[in-house]
Amino acid sequence: MARIAGVEFGSGIMNAACSVAKTPEDVKALSKTGIDAIVVGSITPEARLGNAEPRWYADSGYALNSFGMPNDGAEYYTDVLPDMINTAHAVDKRLILSIAGFSLADYVRLAGVAETAQVDMLEINLGCPNVRTDGGIPEPIASFNPDYMSQIVEAVAKETKLPISLKLSPYSNPAELESVAKLVNTFDTVDAVVASNSFPNGTYFDTEGKPVLAVGFGGVTGEVMRPIALGQVSQFRKHLDSRIEVIGAGGIERREHVELFRHAGAVAFQAATLIVRDGHSAIDRLI
Ligand SMILES: Cc1cc2nc3c(=O)[nH]c(=O)nc-3n(C[C@H](O)[C@H](O)[C@H](O)COP(=O)(O)O)c2cc1C
Repeated sequence: MARIAGVEFGSGIMNAACSVAKTPEDVKALSKTGIDAIVVGSITPEARLGNAEPRWYADSGYALNSFGMPNDGAEYYTDVLPDMINTAHAVDKRLILSIAGFSLADYVRLAGVAETAQVDMLEINLGCPNVRTDGGIPEPIASFNPDYMSQIVEAVAKETKLPISLKLSPYSNPAELESVAKLVNTFDTVDAVVASNSFPNGTYFDTEGKPVLAVGFGGVTGEVMRPIALGQVSQFRKHLDSRIEVIGAGGIERREHVELFRHAGAVAFQAATLIVRDGHSAIDRLI
């Protein structure tokens, strides 16, 4: 039984935050599967259409996406979250809200949405690499900016007492991962780390040399991320205090993969590419 901050998450099978759980209809579709928790979002304060298409490309062993977090914004989710929660709770599933901000004020506002709705857990997305389309200097990814990360966690904790998980980007430098884990250990209000988000800014080209994604770059996900995510989970489990649980994400597509992540130290398991590619019911392959 997966238990995070006293909340029970069954065998810990979840979708990862992505395009497959943004509407009440998505929550209904996932509620009909064997999933234990539905992660809605990531949501942002203002509604977003997301990036131009094509924004999804899947090949054998990996996928690239540059969705840019399309969602209907804070007001919409304030309206529909109570229904989403009822749908999930009616079949004994938990509902998690993933929030993504472009400023401290954004995270504070969205934490307020989660608090009002009383979702079962708040997942703070600290790694959104896919949002700049104007060629400007990218926004700092909070996963790589300890000061910003601390400010976000502190500000969110003033808005809500809900259980909190931090969704982090993958770290290629083990010393950086260790120092992030040590920083997370100082956050009394954080209950779990989700490792990992997509690897930022991958690209691929068609036979004419044209990028397969309209905006050129996108997050790398899918099977290719499995050994990387397993490494991140193992390292976080080693460095985090035992009160902070680890949730695995990256290349989880079959039941055996769940077991690999359990060996690495994860108590819960999230999948995105599997469901984006094959539909909501594909989550049942993990059960
Ligand atoms: C289409 C798509 C959209 C995504 N959007 C988000 C998002 O809004 N917030 C977030 O934290 N992660 C997002 N992710 C990352 C996933 O939650 C997950 O961390 C990553 O895809 C690795 O898991 P996977 O290999 O099972 O896809 C997205 C992934 C995909 C494929």
